[in-house]
Amino acid sequence: SVPMPRAADLLAWYDRHRRALPWRAEAGERPDPYRVWASEIMLQQTTVTAVKPYYERFMARFPTVQALARAPSEEVMQAWAGLGYYSRARNLHACAKAVMENHAGRFPDTEEGLRALPGIGAYTAGAVAAIAFDRPAAAVDGNVERVITRLFAIADELPGARPLIREKVLALLPAGRPGDFAQALMDLGATICTPRNPACGLCPWREPCRARIEGTQESFPRKAKK
Ligand code: ADE
Repeated sequence: SVPMPRAADLLAWYDRHRRALPWRAEAGERPDPYRVWASEIMLQQTTVTAVKPYYERFMARFPTVQALARAPSEEVMQAWAGLGYYSRARNLHACAKAVMENHAGRFPDTEEGLRALPGIGAYTAGAVAAIAFDRPAAAVDGNVERVITRLFAIADELPGARPLIREKVLALLPAGRPGDFAQALMDLGATICTPRNPACGLCPWREPCRARIEGTQESFPRKAKK
């Protein structure tokens, strides 16, 4: 029979392979919600490699949510230029202003509070709640969809499978370290559980993974025809 996947095995893998990224706090440190939020907005439609230099420059120019809120929009758009999907930059600026005006400059620490802000949807709210505030939240992006649909051989097509994927992530959550767990899932999808030729031999969840057992890794996730 197939063993259950355990969060502890993923976290042990993360402790060994954690990538040092500019928006990540040092192990054991609390990250700055402003930095986490800005990085998650940038990472939505752009790869980690492409985001890094923009992120560094953006943070040097707007080191706090207050600095961002006060900046003229032309400056924000200029700092964003090259990242594309410019509605993200407009929402980013609107969100910084809303945090200053309606939340005394502090990001809300719940998914619900975060979701009420401009440009923050289910993914970003879950990511910020988990990573910045250690809330037991699910942050389901494309990488996580691939990991989870393979792990449980979920044959339902995306986007319909999302609620089930979310449920599976919540059921896997460890008792502690929800922020590390969220980022470990993303890193597993980005580096091991890749779309083609996944490195299953290196995966901490190789034993419980139904798709690996069946040799059907590359058939997940299934997507509705456009
Ligand atoms: N992709 C989206 N958010 C990420 C994060 N926090 N770390 C690595 N990759 C990501």
